[in-house]
Amino acid sequence: EKDPVTVLVTGAAGQIGYALVPMIARGEMLGPDQPVIIHMLDIEQAAEALNGVKMELIDAAFPLLKGVVATTDVVEACSDVNIAILVGGFPRKEGMERKDVMSKNVSIYKAQALALDQHAAPDCKVLVVANPANTNALILKEFAPSIPEKNITCLTRLDHNRALGQISEKLNVHVSDVKNVIIWGNHSSTQYPDANHATVKTFTGEKPATELVGDDKWLKTEFIDTVQQRGAAIIKARRMSSALSAASSACDHIRDWVLGTPKGTWVSMGVSSDGSYGVPQGLIYSFPVTCDKGEWSIMQGLKIDEFSREKMDANAKELMEEKSLAYSCLN
Ligand code: NAI
Repeated sequence: EKDPVTVLVTGAAGQIGYALVPMIARGEMLGPDQPVIIHMLDIEQAAEALNGVKMELIDAAFPLLKGVVATTDVVEACSDVNIAILVGGFPRKEGMERKDVMSKNVSIYKAQALALDQHAAPDCKVLVVANPANTNALILKEFAPSIPEKNITCLTRLDHNRALGQISEKLNVHVSDVKNVIIWGNHSSTQYPDANHATVKTFTGEKPATELVGDDKWLKTEFIDTVQQRGAAIIKARRMSSALSAASSACDHIRDWVLGTPKGTWVSMGVSSDGSYGVPQGLIYSFPVTCDKGEWSIMQGLKIDEFSREKMDANAKELMEEKSLAYSCLN
């Protein structure tokens, strides 16, 4: 039997956490033969609820689950973790200024960065889910210098999966026959869902999604808007934000990162820019990536048309603004 992998989930008493921890314990994230130990962190006010989640994990008798830690102590939570999924954060409440929310999250991510820097296992892989996801990841990178930059990512896989879903609905094909959409940029409503390079498996081979959809206007308007606004649509319908799809996409993100993407397939991940596609170096920006042996690489050489260029630049601009807002909160 393999040695267990220790996975940290912060904000584990919240609704994404509640959907996510059983997926991890069932092997949906790291595979059906990989034992896991789950560390769950939340804040003092949620300690009792967190303990309830721990009780349920025990009650579910998961064969792969070798241990559970439920704690409000960030150092205990971060100790020896191989994978950290950071879902905990401060939500924007009615009437709050953007700067106030940013300021709360900057201090949370700074503290968690310091704890991971000191106590996580070497080569710990980090996925930030909590919003503002890209900028929280940027702060984490800043304050966890011992964690390689390539190990710090944020979640845009939910947006990626939403884009696959919209194309599959439009064409009435199964979602697993659609691949290689791209989410560029920020996990915000500015994000650019791009289907220009997507393909669809058909009886007569792989075809470009643009050709099968045959409706450039739809791809440039309704498709983009639906993906950008999907989070808001879910809140309107459920009166709560997306949790099962967010948890499932977080599993997809880590699974593909650790176990690799299938040949010929890329996925979207928020990663530190190396300057590819003219995106300022060091920004956490969502790119198309392939993964192999636990490492992602940005898919190179994709043709970018003028329409895309404009949208990609708008994302870089928004992320630069978020970055300066975040840095102004540090002082
Ligand atoms: P939630 O409010 O149900 O849960 C958040 C949990 O985090 C709460 O239990 C809270 O007590 C905890 N928390 C707050 N501060 C903490 C701290 N300093 N340390 C540890 N835990 C802390 O929220 P939900 O629905 O689970 O969403 C979590 C986050 O994920 C939100 O920021 C949300 O905007 C974001 N999100 C991101 C998505 C993405 O695609 N990147 C998709 C959906 C949500």
